[in-house]
Amino acid sequence: MTTTPVLEIRNLHKAYGALEVIKGVDITAPRGHVIALIGSSGSGKSTILRCANLLEDSQQGDILFKGEPVKWRGEGLNRHPADAGQVLRIRTNLSMVFQQFNLWAHMTILQNVMEAPVTVQGRDRAEAEHAARGYLDKVGIGDKCDVYPAQLSGGQQQRAAIARALCMEPEALLFDEPTSALDPELEQEVIRVIKDLANEGRTMMIVTHDMSMARDVSDHVVFLHQGLIEEEGTPDALFGAPKSERLRGFLSSTMAA
Ligand SMILES: Nc1ncnc2c1ncn2[C@@H]1O[C@H](COP(=O)(O)OP(=O)(O)OP(=O)(O)O)[C@@H](O)[C@H]1O
Ligand SMILES: [Mg+2]
Repeated sequence: MTTTPVLEIRNLHKAYGALEVIKGVDITAPRGHVIALIGSSGSGKSTILRCANLLEDSQQGDILFKGEPVKWRGEGLNRHPADAGQVLRIRTNLSMVFQQFNLWAHMTILQNVMEAPVTVQGRDRAEAEHAARGYLDKVGIGDKCDVYPAQLSGGQQQRAAIARALCMEPEALLFDEPTSALDPELEQEVIRVIKDLANEGRTMMIVTHDMSMARDVSDHVVFLHQGLIEEEGTPDALFGAPKSERLRGFLSSTMAA
């Protein structure tokens, strides 16, 4: 039996003014799968994630959340999502974790994690707090509920951001370079959390420069080059036997770095 994928991106095109940055990309995230997006700087990785959760408009193609296509109005550079309720629902179900954590400095860690469940999703405060404490425990910082983001290490802040994303009870998590602002030892604690989430069967799309994480946690790797998929496949195929010259070049430069 096949189940409907959590997220499908079909023939996505995105331009910034005259600059076409995504030129027809298809990516499917089946339930429980982890998709890694790799590629050089400027290849379009972040743009794809931002288009997928409707933080950015796109000009052509379809985005389907659990089989439900995003409704558009207008065309080309004037194409925008037509249904604000649908946008909110999809965005809260595809929770993003950013490179720079984006925690609110004036709120405690617990408040950061409960804020959107209460104000955006309208959940009961006591229930949201209970859930938030549970997710903070899960990422290993249950003792940091009452401190402010500035009092945490980068790795702890990123784990708080992951707890915040989880507290929305999303269908999928979208990570944009979750470890690249971190020192190597702090990186490992975040990678461990991401691995646990993968083992739990969470659906995730992860943009990363960390090839060993991509290899370890993903089921499918997509290598982007200038807004197009140059090669994709299992981690073993992509890292073990890359076919395209560009991917071979990319891998040897990142391994050497
Ligand atoms: N807001 C913007 N306005 C204009 N051009 C943009 C904007 N954001 C991104 N771009 C361009 O779109 C292209 C893709 O950018 P994107 O940020 O998706 O790349 P990336 O693969 O995530 O790169 P990196 O690894 O450096 O994060 C780049 O050429 C970039 O300059
Ligand atoms: Mg990026």
